[in-house]
Amino acid sequence: MFKLSICFGSACHLRGAYSVLNAFKALIDKYQVQSEIDVEGNFCQGKCTEGVVIKVNDEIITNVAREKVYDIFMEKVLGGERH
Ligand code: FES
Repeated sequence: MFKLSICFGSACHLRGAYSVLNAFKALIDKYQVQSEIDVEGNFCQGKCTEGVVIKVNDEIITNVAREKVYDIFMEKVLGGERH
């Protein structure tokens, strides 16, 4: 089971956290992996200048923008190891 956490602190919110969330949701639907991914929101991760900050399992990924979501999804979720 993958755990995807997206920071919804105010800085990440302003930098497009919802847009990142929606991009992930669209891919999760497209690839029908709803049962394998747990998506949740997080409070500030202390890296506000590097937002949007997400966590895939325990790995923190910074500077995530909507345009990067596809690559992250492919690498970490579909191609990566599964927990
Ligand atoms: S608001 Fe996201 S790291 Fe601070």
